[in-house]
Amino acid sequence: MCAQPKSNRPGPIPGTMAEPEITLRSSTPADAEQLFAWRSEPSAARYQPLQPLSLAALRAQLRRRSGVPLNRSFAGKAQWIVERDGVPAGWISLTVLDREHGRGAVGYTIGEAFRGQGCATAAVRQLIALAFDPTGLGLARLEAVAAVGNRASQRVLELAGFTREGCARGLLMIDGRRVDHYRYGLLRDDSYG
Ligand SMILES: CC(C)(COP(=O)(O)OP(=O)(O)OC[C@H]1O[C@@H](n2cnc3c(N)ncnc32)[C@H](O)[C@@H]1OP(=O)(O)O)[C@@H](O)C(=O)NCCC(=O)NCCS
Repeated sequence: MCAQPKSNRPGPIPGTMAEPEITLRSSTPADAEQLFAWRSEPSAARYQPLQPLSLAALRAQLRRRSGVPLNRSFAGKAQWIVERDGVPAGWISLTVLDREHGRGAVGYTIGEAFRGQGCATAAVRQLIALAFDPTGLGLARLEAVAAVGNRASQRVLELAGFTREGCARGLLMIDGRRVDHYRYGLLRDDSYG
């Protein structure tokens, strides 16, 4: 349980992987169809428990969340569309876990057509800046979990500066079975980027 998984994936050839132009914009009800499509891709739910949501429920959720100011009073979940050169490529979310202690949790999914291009790593880096901005959300600690088999997600967090802090056995139910997850953390005072 919780042993370090090995990846056979070759690394990028130096000098060949240009950083894409990644921007985050707050999601709106107009993004419901796109989000629904990404959530329906079989690989999206392989390593994370995605609650089944109808298109109408997704749109209603987006309506409830949109327009809420992201300041030091914000509580709950915020979501952004990750755009690559202006084209929607995936989503990233931040859940404020605990205002008193300044803790938030990060989650993300990139559409299958856009994976392996650095989108998630660039998006997490931008979210870190938003989350720790003292004039904005003003958080002090970010947390994330990644299933032990989800090497891509672990790499995203490590590249963005998160530290692996342990392994939570059977943390989440995915596809009917309990799955071990690595826990990651990042403090505002850590070096990251
Ligand atoms: C995890 C996920 C978000 C990664 O998105 P991405 O945009 O492809 O990630 P990046 O391109 O930024 O790659 C980051 C690192 O992961 C590595 N990586 C990407 N896919 C990989 C794979 N299948 N196996 C191993 N490493 C992988 C990349 O090579 C890169 O590391 P490197 O620079 O050391 O080579 C994407 O695979 C995804 O959406 N998966 C389904 C949903 C999910 O698992 N979400 C996370 C839940 S915790």
